[in-house]
Amino acid sequence: MRLALLDILACPMCADAPLELFALAGSGPRLETGVLRCRGCDRFYPVQAGLPIMLPDGMRDARQADLLQRWRHRLPAGSRGALDADCARIRTCAAGSDDSLLARRREQSLRDRESGIYDSLYPDARHRAEIETYLSLCRPERDLRTLEIGCGTGRVTRHLLAAGAEILAVDCSRASLEVLAARATGGVLDRVCGDAVHLPVRRDRFSLAVALGVFYHLPGRDEREWALQAALDALEPGGALVVSLYNLSLPKRVGAALGLDPTGRKQGRKGDREGGIYFYRHGAAEARRWLGARAEVECFEGVNHQIPIVGRRIPDPLFARLDGLLARTPLSLLLARELVARVRKR
Ligand SMILES: C[S@@+](CC[C@H](N)C(=O)[O-])C[C@H]1O[C@@H](n2cnc3c(N)ncnc32)[C@H](O)[C@@H]1O
Repeated sequence: MRLALLDILACPMCADAPLELFALAGSGPRLETGVLRCRGCDRFYPVQAGLPIMLPDGMRDARQADLLQRWRHRLPAGSRGALDADCARIRTCAAGSDDSLLARRREQSLRDRESGIYDSLYPDARHRAEIETYLSLCRPERDLRTLEIGCGTGRVTRHLLAAGAEILAVDCSRASLEVLAARATGGVLDRVCGDAVHLPVRRDRFSLAVALGVFYHLPGRDEREWALQAALDALEPGGALVVSLYNLSLPKRVGAALGLDPTGRKQGRKGDREGGIYFYRHGAAEARRWLGARAEVECFEGVNHQIPIVGRRIPDPLFARLDGLLARTPLSLLLARELVARVRKR
């Protein structure tokens, strides 16, 4: 972790900043091992192998309490009582069974497990179509202060970095963040293990926020509202948010109405993906309204279309051409698997 990150981080629970740092190992401007303490609510967040773990209550697990307890004797004596109390809180909250937290923890552990193969799950043409659309809406440039929420293994991060953007990448999956660190080259990349609903960052710090493939996995309307607002709060006035949402496309509506599941993929508005990851599909008009209620919608388009009948069996180069052509027609919002928007903070 770069020490400069202390100017950006805030407590995910009470938003207090700056955090107090107890450095245990590191050199120069980098911290390898340490503890961040929130003076506002007396929570403690470990930094392990250079990664700050700044999850909210309920997503912090007993391993974090164990880690903090191992380092306890190296912290100032005056902070140890508060540390013990926080470790007890971590263990109590980790045993909680709130539906929303359980769903988020399930996703967290599944993403950890699939981090090694995540990128290979994307068919090549679909990946390329998405990246092209995402980059055209993100408009990355040198030194653009960018917050990426739900960065995963860095499928998109790597392209933003290559364009020179300065990125803080947040994800709740530690294993995914490790894959990202191993693959990312060049540029300025900071990583934090954190939750999209309780972002561990201060207000007004970024020019661009990017949330691709993450809001639709948040398991409730409130969580999606809070995450959208948190992303906007992190932006300076006039900053832009690029967000993708699953589309309740015509084929998904028809499939659900007829009880068909021809592609083996779930139809309809919401459900659980294989492995138990929750998803929600916005309709296009609903998505526009949802985003427009909080920000100025600048661009709104579809990507990765479900091309009727021939579907996925068409060769990649042809798919890419048809996908690009469809994106420019009114059919796009009916057939796209994903809706992608660029919105501006008011
Ligand atoms: C579908 S993947 C998308 C990853 C990446 N943005 C991409 O397009 O390849 C969703 C990512 O969001 C992360 N995620 C899901 N829920 C999250 C939450 N509540 N807070 C932070 N990250 C979350 C997952 O761990 C996963 O890496």
